[in-house]
Amino acid sequence: MENKLNDSEVKMNITLKTFYGLEEVLKEELVELGYSEVKVLNRAVQIVGTWRDVYFLNLHSRCAISVLAEVANFSIRNEDDLYKKCMKIDWTQYFDVTKTFAVKGAIFSDFFKHSQFPFLLVKDAIADTFRNKFGKRPDVHIKVPQVLFDVYINDQNVTISLNSSGVPLFQRGYRQSAGDAPLNEVVAAALVRMSGWDRKSAFVDPFCGSGTILIEAAMLAAGIPSSIERQHYAFKNFANYDTVLWDEIYEAATKRCQSLPCRIVGSDIDPDMIMKTRRNLKGIAVGRFIETDIRPFDEVKKPEDTGFMVTNPPYGERMGDNIEEMYSSLGDWMKTELKGYTCWVISASEEGFKSIGLRPERRIKMYNGDLECSFRKFSIYEGSKKAKNNNYDLDEVSETISDEEE
Ligand SMILES: C[S@@+](CC[C@H](N)C(=O)[O-])C[C@H]1O[C@@H](n2cnc3c(N)ncnc32)[C@H](O)[C@@H]1O
Repeated sequence: MENKLNDSEVKMNITLKTFYGLEEVLKEELVELGYSEVKVLNRAVQIVGTWRDVYFLNLHSRCAISVLAEVANFSIRNEDDLYKKCMKIDWTQYFDVTKTFAVKGAIFSDFFKHSQFPFLLVKDAIADTFRNKFGKRPDVHIKVPQVLFDVYINDQNVTISLNSSGVPLFQRGYRQSAGDAPLNEVVAAALVRMSGWDRKSAFVDPFCGSGTILIEAAMLAAGIPSSIERQHYAFKNFANYDTVLWDEIYEAATKRCQSLPCRIVGSDIDPDMIMKTRRNLKGIAVGRFIETDIRPFDEVKKPEDTGFMVTNPPYGERMGDNIEEMYSSLGDWMKTELKGYTCWVISASEEGFKSIGLRPERRIKMYNGDLECSFRKFSIYEGSKKAKNNNYDLDEVSETISDEEE
């Protein structure tokens, strides 16, 4: 029922959590990292691995929010069973009494009338186990615990995991400055991957804001983990923390590069935003290779004949933004300037997408924070294909686009 922590070779279920819609791209990332058997779950994927994999994935996954290491799995017949079964677990093997802890998770079970109650039961079992053994118990810290247990109850099945990441993995450690509407780093990394960018062609973001998409693209192209600057991981608070193993994994990661295999170019109309991007670029190894410029998108010239654009224009949340006009000019600019480019736009504005006046080849539903967004692909062909595929009038946009949104 329970995984012994002091055996670093023991195999366990490792669950990587992510945002809605990013499960497949996270799976693809894990396959590229060498994991062949990846199970896709709801907002998560799962593999079987060891503590080495837990450390490795915390450092190397760009599309996961957290890495959970399963410590116990059992079934219950009623509410009381949860506390009783939890009292059979030796919680003192996971952390020492000086560390703060918390219990969170998700409950899909009729056994519990109050959604928070199962977490209280597990918390009590942990505290009582410590008290019985040492005469004292560790403190709970709800907001920033040093050790966080994740409880997942589905009907009668209970899975308890250690959240080995702690603060979410989108806190990369490279962002010094953010704009009003920064894209989440995990979402940005996923967009770059989903775009199918070959990591060799030119890459542009003409609405770069504080530079999140550019940075994630450059880190990917350079093979440097996005979290290379991050120091804090919850697994460092666990009783079994193996500093030699972590140092070995960290040392083996690429940290610097002499050049990038492609041009990565960002711009924004707002000088403050470009200042923020440049501040962020200063702190990272790939920063000096990313080109940035203050200019409106429709004055941007493509850096190479062919390439990729991945961008996150305003959604119209600011007073005075004329979204229809902006997206209509964006469509015109893509048609004239970005011939030969694969363009991807993420936006929460359906009016905006309509105003682009181009038929999307793909549409992927996803979220940026709480905002439902769509990530759409527009291929801008040269010559005859352009006439065939790109000169769409809105009325001609087919209702039969086969896509992932439905
Ligand atoms: C949603 S934000 C992009 C956020 C960015 N992805 C980040 O992570 O920080 C949209 C950006 O578009 C910029 N913008 C607005 N109008 C523009 C225009 N006409 N040309 C270029 N950039 C523009 C804004 O200054 C803002 O930084």
